[in-house]
Amino acid sequence: MQFQNKKKVATITAVGMYVPEKILDNKYLESIVDTSDEWIMTRTGIRERRIMENGATSDMAVKACEDLFKTTSVKPEEIDVIIVATVTPDMLFPATACLVQEKIGATKAWGFDLSAACSAFLFALQTGASLIESGTYKKVLVIGSDKMSSIVDYTDRNTCILFGDLASAVLLEPTENQNIGIKDSMLFSDGSGKDALQMKAGGSLNPASHETIDKKWHYIYQDGKAVFKVAVKGMADVSYEIMKRNNLTSDDVAYLVPHQANLRIIDATAERMGISKEKVMINIDRYGNTTAATIPSCLTEYYRDGKIKKGDNLILAAFGAGYTWGAIYLTWGLD
Ligand code: UT7
Repeated sequence: MQFQNKKKVATITAVGMYVPEKILDNKYLESIVDTSDEWIMTRTGIRERRIMENGATSDMAVKACEDLFKTTSVKPEEIDVIIVATVTPDMLFPATACLVQEKIGATKAWGFDLSAACSAFLFALQTGASLIESGTYKKVLVIGSDKMSSIVDYTDRNTCILFGDLASAVLLEPTENQNIGIKDSMLFSDGSGKDALQMKAGGSLNPASHETIDKKWHYIYQDGKAVFKVAVKGMADVSYEIMKRNNLTSDDVAYLVPHQANLRIIDATAERMGISKEKVMINIDRYGNTTAATIPSCLTEYYRDGKIKKGDNLILAAFGAGYTWGAIYLTWGLD
């Protein structure tokens, strides 16, 4: 008998999301900081964001998973691994993944949190895919959940207009269909960017103290201009490179699925790839920058709207704090 060692490929077999009810629109922000709807729309493309009023990141993640489980025959107790991509864990420890595991009843799963800011969903998706490709695990939940409102200073107009709360999840399973699934990734970190986008306190460097609170170090700090410059180049270059490396032309790509930080960064990435606006997934106008939840929520919404079909090539791309950035090339496998 011939020994067959077919490479296992990971593919997304279910999606889900949770959208908090409360809407924070630009008009409201005009009433609390010196800004305008016009400035926010033209500089970022954001019209409104969602706020999670009662509950934490794990609660949003659980609701996203419940939404996902409604669409698949897979049961929570069959899940092998849970990866929660987040910068707003419920606590520093235990991991939010443990809290989600318990709340959804994933009785045989282990899991962990993955901290890579706005690139975290990509890093988590590649990690989950690798666990499946290893042959050891068959059902991996990859969740992007961030309650950004818990670390936003609503007196700082530089940041409070940008972020929102959202959660979304995907289920990864192995497939022997070599035409679909996660095909390539290019992921990067560069810690020299740490000062441009960070939350200074609450970790071992600057544990919580009266001083850290007085200095507002438990909130997001961002040098927007500095991040903008590297984000435009980083996200556009990596998206172009992953296409080139896989011999894809713009005609071969059904959608760019970009991290939703700023419409201008997204437009620049699409332009570098030679991709028209209709082939770019966008939800920044309704949710703002939701960090780890931007990419899976785009996938969920576009899939549910019937806009992605089996066999579509997608390029997922992100840039965020760290710096971290990267792109993933996958072929959609859901009917
Ligand atoms: O997701 C993780 C990675 N993060 C990013 O990718 C974000 C990257 N950065 C950005 O998206 C943009 O830099 C921002 C949207 C944050 C800011 O846009 P910008 O075009 O870079 O504005 P700026 O910071 O250069 O500020 C331009 C002007 C300044 O006034 P002066 O100095 O020209 O008089 C700001 O004080 O706009 C002013 N400004 C505002 N005005 C009204 C800054 N924030 C606001 C505001 N409303 N909210």
